[in-house]
Amino acid sequence: MNTLTKVQEMLRPAQVQDLSKLSFYCGKKQKQNCCFTHLVGLPKSPSTYNPMPLMPYQTQFFKTVQNPRYHKFHVNKSRQMGMTELILRIIQYRGFSKYAGGKVIIIAGTREKTTKKLMQRLKELFRNIPNVIQKSDDLSIKLYNGTTFEGLPARAEAILGDTKIKAIFMDEASKWYMTDDEPVMNAVKPIVDINKSDLFMISTPNGPKGFFYKIERDTNDFMKIKYDIYQAVGFLYSQEEAEEMLKDTSVDTDQEYLNQYTTGRNSIFGTVLDDEIGDFGTLD
Ligand SMILES: Nc1ncnc2c1ncn2[C@@H]1O[C@H](COP(=O)(O)OP(=O)(O)O)[C@@H](O)[C@H]1O
Ligand SMILES: [Mg+2]
Repeated sequence: MNTLTKVQEMLRPAQVQDLSKLSFYCGKKQKQNCCFTHLVGLPKSPSTYNPMPLMPYQTQFFKTVQNPRYHKFHVNKSRQMGMTELILRIIQYRGFSKYAGGKVIIIAGTREKTTKKLMQRLKELFRNIPNVIQKSDDLSIKLYNGTTFEGLPARAEAILGDTKIKAIFMDEASKWYMTDDEPVMNAVKPIVDINKSDLFMISTPNGPKGFFYKIERDTNDFMKIKYDIYQAVGFLYSQEEAEEMLKDTSVDTDQEYLNQYTTGRNSIFGTVLDDEIGDFGTLD
């Protein structure tokens, strides 16, 4: 080991320690060594690629998540609301505090490819803090402080219990390519209840079926939140853009933008406009 590597080794724990002291987001425009979000970099606008502040509903969601009363979250959201981005940032941030030394499970679909893409997105959030990563591959990221982020396919047998599971993130949970998603939920539920892990279940609706729909409908201990397209007006979209989107006749706008569980996979809108056709394509 050369001297530089030795020094880097010595510095690593200190850096990890310092990150745990940062607040998640300062709310200011300029970076001033102020918060975790500025350190890792602000999210980029999908249209201009310019760094953008977190939107009010994103900061509000973070506040809700910080409330110790809640640890299961069900978020029914319009398309393209910056929610995947936000949850990835929250689990990354907590990898240095609440989840430090533990395991965070990420499930994005039945196919490995989908989960790998999400893991890649998470990895990109480490581009300004690469030294905290001890090792990583397509489906896992291990930090020097022992925190591990692990991508798993949405299959009951893949989701095994482990006492160190601190959080589970289920992305687009209503759109997984499976006839019956109940076994997956049955595998996740005891893990979350026994470990008191956090559970982030996020999706745009996809017809009145599946566990995502049932959890919203039933009485349970989930914190249920809905974000329709209007929440992003003035931030991701202008009023005119949102109105145009709502006039689109090629998609079920009530479901895609307004939180309604209206159409399943066999509807006239059956083609899901997602590049992950293997996960989200028509079943029959
Ligand atoms: N606060 C923000 N301001 C601008 N763009 C954002 C913000 N948060 C996320 N984005 C961007 O919006 C796009 C959609 O985000 P994503 O997290 O994929 O949305 P969702 O999961 O809700 O469909 C991405 O390009 C992301 O970088
Ligand atoms: Mg998403």
